[in-house]
Amino acid sequence: MNVCRTTGLTIEQQERWPFLYSHLSSDIEVPSLTNIDEQFIIEMDKEISKIIKNVGDAKSKSRESLTRHLTRLLERRFQKNAKVEAFGSSVTGLSLGTGDLDLCLSFKKEQPKKVLRKVAGLLREEGMMDIQQIPKASIPIVKFKDSRSGLDVDISIENRLAIHNSKMLKGYAQDKRVREFILMVKYWASRRGINTAYEGTLSSYAWTLIAIQHLQMTNPPVAPNRQKGTKPNLIEIHGNSFDVSSDSSSFESKNQQTLAPLLIGFFDRFATRWDWNEMVVSIRNGSHLNAEKKKWSHSGPLPLEVVTGQSKNRMEHIMPIEDPFDHEHDLSRVVKAEGAMTIQEEFMRALHLLSEGTSWKEICKPIFEIDEEPEDFFHDLRTQNTDVLVKTVEEMKFEVSQIEEHIHSLVTERQNSKELLDLLRGTLQETRNVKSNRQSILSELRPLSMKVQVLRQTRDGINDRIAIPTKRIHQEMVRMFNSLTSEVDVFNTQSLGREKGDFSYFFELQAMYKASLESNQAHQEFIRLRREQNKEYKALKETRTEEENVLNRLIEGNPELKGINLHPKTVKEYQHNANKLQKSINIQYSKKHELRREIGRIEAWIRIASSKNKQRQRKDSKPRQHRREAPSVNINEVRERASSGGSFSLNELDAIMSEGGIKTIQSKEKSSTATQSERRKSGRKKATHRVDPRQGRKRGKKQSRN
Ligand code: CTP
Ligand code: MG
Repeated sequence: MNVCRTTGLTIEQQERWPFLYSHLSSDIEVPSLTNIDEQFIIEMDKEISKIIKNVGDAKSKSRESLTRHLTRLLERRFQKNAKVEAFGSSVTGLSLGTGDLDLCLSFKKEQPKKVLRKVAGLLREEGMMDIQQIPKASIPIVKFKDSRSGLDVDISIENRLAIHNSKMLKGYAQDKRVREFILMVKYWASRRGINTAYEGTLSSYAWTLIAIQHLQMTNPPVAPNRQKGTKPNLIEIHGNSFDVSSDSSSFESKNQQTLAPLLIGFFDRFATRWDWNEMVVSIRNGSHLNAEKKKWSHSGPLPLEVVTGQSKNRMEHIMPIEDPFDHEHDLSRVVKAEGAMTIQEEFMRALHLLSEGTSWKEICKPIFEIDEEPEDFFHDLRTQNTDVLVKTVEEMKFEVSQIEEHIHSLVTERQNSKELLDLLRGTLQETRNVKSNRQSILSELRPLSMKVQVLRQTRDGINDRIAIPTKRIHQEMVRMFNSLTSEVDVFNTQSLGREKGDFSYFFELQAMYKASLESNQAHQEFIRLRREQNKEYKALKETRTEEENVLNRLIEGNPELKGINLHPKTVKEYQHNANKLQKSINIQYSKKHELRREIGRIEAWIRIASSKNKQRQRKDSKPRQHRREAPSVNINEVRERASSGGSFSLNELDAIMSEGGIKTIQSKEKSSTATQSERRKSGRKKATHRVDPRQGRKRGKKQSRN
């Protein structure tokens, strides 16, 4: 493996952190950002404002409706004891449109037990995706994806500080320049992949605090300290007291800098000038705190030592950032060694690129593929024929109507399934008492059956070995005993072998007798237990009949239950089915939304294209044709009359208009002997006077009468 002798970084690591590597391995001069030319700043500002126009929270409507939906659900689940509040970027106004939806679930009275599991179960029923429970965190969280909108959601429990700090961030973000500056820092961090706390970099929240700190430390400050001089507002959480006061009044900054120089200053500060060993980001203080005084000095290995394998120990306060309300909370505690290296690399990269005059867009170039909206919203439609597009829209509308039908049938099916599920649950509840009786009988029956089994085995085992009944054994024993203890007939003595045989037969009989007695005893016990067992069986049967009666009664009232196996397993099956249906519904909904959006886009383009066409046609068009053919009047005669001041009818007026209008009368006048100016005057006067269509026939008639 090729490893750098100075840094210990492997080739792969050198390629991964090239700017940082060149600084660590050789004495490269840190570029200065003080002499950036004005033109670059103007261009950068233009780029930034273009980006800001596009980064609005496009999903804010989805966020709002999802928040409403989840609030309703959770409140219904916890019977009004629950309170749901949004926090994070959806309330601070600092959303790039790509962030998650942060919700806080708190309880007005006592918090229910196993709340996270209950929430997760509810979300599962709603068909949410990728549900994850994080119960051991200081603030328990359920994470999931809303299948309909695709939004990532975090529901945290009793996250009261977050509600308050979001309120304060909203106060900071009320200033347009502050808001846009934070958005740009978040934009850069998100596109460069350094804003994911659970992957070992910093959270969006931490980047927001760093951005605010910079604006507080510019000269003059762009952002105020919103916690300075406020009236304390103490809240207590788990026995600790926190001052969550903040000031939201407006702040007039004397600093006139635009976003570009502010961002350049940001990178200049944090890439090289900020000494993370000694300085703690603290917006509560309005400028950095001394790490040693705060007892947050860096301890443990450096990130370089960890990534090169020199140490495996824990790093402490690697990029100390103080939470504005929880002063003991360092937001960099989630940062891993690799994350710290990447963050440093990104600062270095931005610094170098800025010093080389690279565009902001390039500096924020995403490290992964991003599905961005093209700048030209209609780029793919411009070359297409409008008729084809109209047809496409029709087809898409048809598809939407089919999807709607499908959704309707799925919703009905799910509704039925859910109703049945409720019914099943209710039924199982009603039969629960009978079932618990049965359970207790069964629990008694089980050991009883075992005993019966053992006794039967004992008895049969003995009986297999001893074929003769006990009574016979006893008689045989008595007979043998008598024979063995009778007086000895000296003339007729048995052989020793025979006598030994008799004795062992007798002992055998004795053992047999004992075993036989045991068998009898086992048999007696067996009989007794069998009786008991029968009694229990009878009771069991009675509970079955009782359950059947309850069920029959329920089925009578709810015929849908007929034919369904009323068992907790069935409930699970129905639950599973309802979840599956909900997922399908969500998929169909998102298909429908996508189609609708596309229809809207194409229709908008069709409207634009047709209005463009109209404009083009108007430009290209020849002078308008006369409305209709001139009425059949002797035009020359009418002209004569008009030029000599005589009257004419509307028909005749129409004929004049159709044949070139008033100017033809004037041209006729040209042939008269009057001076041009006189003619113009008299001509205009006469013509204007006589052809005003509003005067119409009446005047003409009147004059002709005269
Ligand atoms: N928060 C917190 N402590 C943390 C992380 C987050 O109190 N360590 C709270 C803050 O109230 C923050 C909110 O959680 O505003 C959301 O955090 P995050 O999602 O990181 O920030 P957003 O501004 O919501 O960013 P995005 O738009 O990327 O979701
Ligand atoms: Mg968020």
